[in-house]
Amino acid sequence: MTEIATKPTGEPVIRTIAMPADTNPNGDIFGGWLMAQMDLAGGSAARRRAGGRVATVAVDSMAFHHPVKVGDEVSIYATILGVGRTSIRIFIEAWRRGRDEAMNKVTSATFVMVAIGDDGRPRPVPPA
Ligand SMILES: CC(C)(COP(=O)(O)OP(=O)(O)OC[C@H]1O[C@@H](n2cnc3c(N)ncnc32)[C@H](O)[C@@H]1OP(=O)(O)O)[C@@H](O)C(=O)NCCC(=O)NCCS
Repeated sequence: MTEIATKPTGEPVIRTIAMPADTNPNGDIFGGWLMAQMDLAGGSAARRRAGGRVATVAVDSMAFHHPVKVGDEVSIYATILGVGRTSIRIFIEAWRRGRDEAMNKVTSATFVMVAIGDDGRPRPVPPA
């Protein structure tokens, strides 16, 4: 499927460089590494909104539209879509920029994060 988004949406949360340690034996960047960056970004945005600890409870389906290569700049953007009683839905986009300055959207997903207390159980998200 062709990805036609031309610019990121949401708040920039993480910017990093894809490194050789993040590759599979073929030298391509692992999809799992990118998913971890997205989970970190979603957790960071959710933690701020929830005023404390959160846990990822669900992620919707993901498709990868463009490869990430070693040396690419990878940026993760987050948009809070909605807040429930204890949960926060966050749309996360991952973009890459190569040395030629070309930017491509790599993937996106909606993460559901739950605010949890010290006991690891859900707690209400405070008012904004
Ligand atoms: C997060 C956790 C504490 C939630 O506990 P729970 O008993 O499922 O809690 P609840 O059923 O009360 O659901 C809590 C909220 O999450 C939402 N939720 C639960 N499962 C969901 C799912 N599969 N998809 C979307 N939302 C979900 C509920 O709708 C509820 O939202 P609301 O309060 O805003 O209405 C528990 O599932 C857990 O510890 N999961 C593991 C989290 C984790 O370790 N993540 C990292 C994996 S490596």
